[in-house]
Amino acid sequence: MRKAGIDFAAARLKKTPADRRRGLFPGYQFSMTYIVTDACIKCKFMDCVEVCPVDCFYEGENFLVISPDECIDCGVCEPECPVDAIKPDTEDEPDGRWLKLNSDFAKTWPNITVKGEPPADREEFERETGKFEKYFSEKPGKGS
Ligand code: SF4
Ligand code: F3S
Repeated sequence: MRKAGIDFAAARLKKTPADRRRGLFPGYQFSMTYIVTDACIKCKFMDCVEVCPVDCFYEGENFLVISPDECIDCGVCEPECPVDAIKPDTEDEPDGRWLKLNSDFAKTWPNITVKGEPPADREEFERETGKFEKYFSEKPGKGS
């Protein structure tokens, strides 16, 4: 499995850069994380999970999410996604819907660290927009 050569000490201690920033500025909310967005739905390539140094992806039936509490903001996963579904939360929609969705489902879906078999019909959905309203499933995936 390929891993990025970044802040492993912090990852092992579950002490993230965001934690350290909070330590420096107690009471101030730092929210930077990466998030998975609409393009992932029904495509679910899973290239992203193999590169995350802190294994913070969680699997739904047709979508993955990132745990904002665990993400160390390294950005390594972003270019791995063939459909550009992964974004920094600074590019979320104004209502913050994707950050909330990632945060909520990371608490209930199983962790995924190994790439599985993407959906056979994924190419049909690669250029479709507005997939959340049409296809999003709250059901958990299998995890790995
Ligand atoms: Fe994992 Fe991506 Fe967050 Fe890096 S930016 S910790 S690869 S989810
Ligand atoms: Fe989804 Fe892209 Fe990962 S399609 S599963 S965010 S590689």
